[in-house]
Amino acid sequence: MAKKRVTTWDEIQDLDSTADVKIPSDPLDRVLGQEDAIKLAKIAAIQRRHLLLVGPPGTGKSMIARALSMNIPKPRHEIRVAKNTENAERPFLEILDKDQVYDEDRIRADSMGRLLDPHDVQQDICERLGYVCRQCKAYSKPSDLMCPSCGKSKMEVAHGSNPFGDLLGQLGGMLEAAVQAPQGGKSVRTTTVNSRGEQEFVLFEMAGDKIRMLDGKAQQKRSQLMNKANQKVLVKLDRDPFVLATGASETELLGDVRHDPYGGHEKLGTPAYERVVAGSIHEAHEGVLFVDEISHLGSLQRYILTAMQEKRFPIVGRNPQSAGASVKVENVPCDFILVAACNIQDLGNILSPLRSRIIGGGYEALVDVAMPDTPENRAKYAQFVAQEVMIDGRIPHATMDAVKLIITEGRLRARGDNQPNALTLRLREMGGLIRAAGDAAVMNGDALITDAHIRDALRRSRPVEEQIREKYGSYMKGMSKDISDAQKETSQYYLGNDHLGDQMFN
Ligand SMILES: Nc1ncnc2c1ncn2[C@@H]1O[C@H](COP(=O)(O)OP(=O)(O)O)[C@@H](O)[C@H]1O
Ligand SMILES: [Mg+2]
Repeated sequence: MAKKRVTTWDEIQDLDSTADVKIPSDPLDRVLGQEDAIKLAKIAAIQRRHLLLVGPPGTGKSMIARALSMNIPKPRHEIRVAKNTENAERPFLEILDKDQVYDEDRIRADSMGRLLDPHDVQQDICERLGYVCRQCKAYSKPSDLMCPSCGKSKMEVAHGSNPFGDLLGQLGGMLEAAVQAPQGGKSVRTTTVNSRGEQEFVLFEMAGDKIRMLDGKAQQKRSQLMNKANQKVLVKLDRDPFVLATGASETELLGDVRHDPYGGHEKLGTPAYERVVAGSIHEAHEGVLFVDEISHLGSLQRYILTAMQEKRFPIVGRNPQSAGASVKVENVPCDFILVAACNIQDLGNILSPLRSRIIGGGYEALVDVAMPDTPENRAKYAQFVAQEVMIDGRIPHATMDAVKLIITEGRLRARGDNQPNALTLRLREMGGLIRAAGDAAVMNGDALITDAHIRDALRRSRPVEEQIREKYGSYMKGMSKDISDAQKETSQYYLGNDHLGDQMFN
């Protein structure tokens, strides 16, 4: 029987492994420490405010942004572009609300008709659609042109039944073959009497091994949908409200209109509206636009500012050499919550009007590098180990001795940040330690991560600078041994390897 999952340090210490540590369901509760930032994130979610998270890498900024997006209401609108027959290069913008999209889904479902087994369909219809051989009446797939049972052409009318013999029979088959269903197969239209005693046109279509039957209502729904054929969904209703725009290019961020070598020519080319592509700012409409290392976006920050102010931003072809450059869709909505993150050093490189916009319509939070070493926070560390094991999926849970050693290491690392009696919140790196220990356990065939694996991992996962120091006495000595001047830059313990370990989000 499964044990009760526990949360307090007193309870946790008695466990066999982290498998029995409770992992909270709210993603915000999975973040260790960072109480201030989380408080602001909760406000931002409810009040739709922007948020700037400042602090060192690997301390939970992305995690908070992601969790915020999971605490806001689901998007309620779908954004589409539609063909403009008068002026193809100015496609129409269409915003549908939830109900309209669902109505359309229902119409689509209704327009699909019913799939029938050929044996349940009148034989003459099966013959005309090619499911039954006209000679020997055997059933076969319509893709078999020759009957697998009698070896003759299935479409030929049997001798005797047709006074004109094979010739017209074949011709008839050819004529029928020329009637194409929308899906590309053949179709047959007949009249039947429906349940209300009325005459009704029924359409039978090839649909692989089955036959699709569309009654009058389904055919009507289908023609209703045909009117929607000249539309493209830019931002669909059912979407992830978390959009990552870290390091985005201009076109990724703002959208684009793709090139068409035929310039959107009526027959040869791809119509302009089909070439319109939404940007991250549009995809984040009604959701969260997360920009990590915001200052690295450089001049693109200006566009984000405009988008935040206007809550709409045109989509244009951004390559002047491309046929897309003449296409424009005005006023595409982009009402997002901006969550931006950066290191303290980069604060000065954020466009100042953008920062003042964030301050004016949101909050700035400095994330912590450590949290006090209390029983409560030790329990959180155990929860963290359980979370990392779950996220990784390839490593076993850890014993309590292993957790205690991780806590000791966490204390040590906090001291490295001048935080005595504290536990580090540079948890991406702690996650790396857990993974390395987990790998050691797996390689050894052990069912749990033990303190021995942690010790092993600590030895092996040291930064290379430290390894050099050990081997050559000092880091500088090691440098002078083999490397060129160009590489003689001092480097820190924390490498800002921000792109690593974002498993939760990618
Ligand atoms: N405060 C935290 N609480 C729990 N896990 C964390 C925390 N900080 C970092 N992690 C772990 O490290 C990973 C990377 O953290 P991330 O949120 O991307 O850091 P940042 O955005 O500050 O660089 C997370 O996916 C998580 O596994
Ligand atoms: Mg991050």
